[in-house]
Amino acid sequence: IASSGNLHWGGASKTIAEMPRNVNSNKGKFGHVLLVGGSYGTAGAPSMSALAAMRTGAGLVTAAVPDSIVNLVAQIAPELMIAPLTQGDEGAVDLRNLDRLDVLMKRISVVAIGPGLSTKGEASEFARQLVAKTTVPMVIDADALNAFDVTRTHFLDGVGRTIVLTPHPGEFARLTGLTVKEVEADRINLARAFATKHQVTLVLKGWRTLIAHPDGSIAVNTTGNPSMAKGGSGDILTGIVAAMLAQFPDNIAEAVEAAVYLHGLAGDFAAHAMDEHTVLATDTVANLSDAFRYRT
Ligand code: APR
Ligand code: MG
Repeated sequence: IASSGNLHWGGASKTIAEMPRNVNSNKGKFGHVLLVGGSYGTAGAPSMSALAAMRTGAGLVTAAVPDSIVNLVAQIAPELMIAPLTQGDEGAVDLRNLDRLDVLMKRISVVAIGPGLSTKGEASEFARQLVAKTTVPMVIDADALNAFDVTRTHFLDGVGRTIVLTPHPGEFARLTGLTVKEVEADRINLARAFATKHQVTLVLKGWRTLIAHPDGSIAVNTTGNPSMAKGGSGDILTGIVAAMLAQFPDNIAEAVEAAVYLHGLAGDFAAHAMDEHTVLATDTVANLSDAFRYRT
């Protein structure tokens, strides 16, 4: 652990994920994750997020995806529940869903939004309005982040609620109005500034992913490898983060750090068992058991 000035930073850990599940527990204790995403042609992204959320221990997982891809997403696992969404001509979710989701939302403990959502048609406005009206903890990723450019970041404010953002450097550049190069040159300060200003947990992805907390503290992740520099890896992280929040709602900081740590560690096990070239994002999910069981 190192510190400089008021910046205290240390390695993310997964201690919170090492507690055994209470023998006298039931699925209600582990939360219900609602994964919102997908559009015509992008069924894989929400499928991977949902799979990862199930494999991380959430009590229930429901995927809310457009009608046209319901049958594809449902194939990921029979345990997955589906909430079909209406879609516009462009194949993306439309605004009618905002009211339609109200009843389901009463049973949801964490909403993750973004993977495969697209920015077509009404998808971005849908994402903005869902973020505005949701009171349970949210994980905001991918195209749901792209719905908020630098002029709209105040709508992401986390005061009074839990908001976790999981941008890659390109998405964070859009949120901050900077270039990717500028983001990469000053990752720690920019992540901390955004997290404290907006009172959110900011996960700035990439090699040595940063987790910036609303109080200004920062954890640096030490797991992960270049086998994960492939499409789908980020979608899987989104599902892992959501499932950890669902299980540990009273310990957001540790839950998010553990999610990032487990994701990278599972990727490390996958790269060890296979090869960095051949590992797919779903192989990371297949190695989550080893990640959970690993003891330093
Ligand atoms: N070392 C460690 N971890 C890595 C490395 C590396 N060299 N490369 C990638 N990763 C990890 C990142 O830390 C992150 O957790 O893999 C994940 C990649 O996430 P994303 O960049 O979001 O990639 P992904 O979502 O799979 O694919 C990109 O999704 O976000 C949308 O618009 C984006 O369409 C694009 C697609
Ligand atoms: Mg991504």
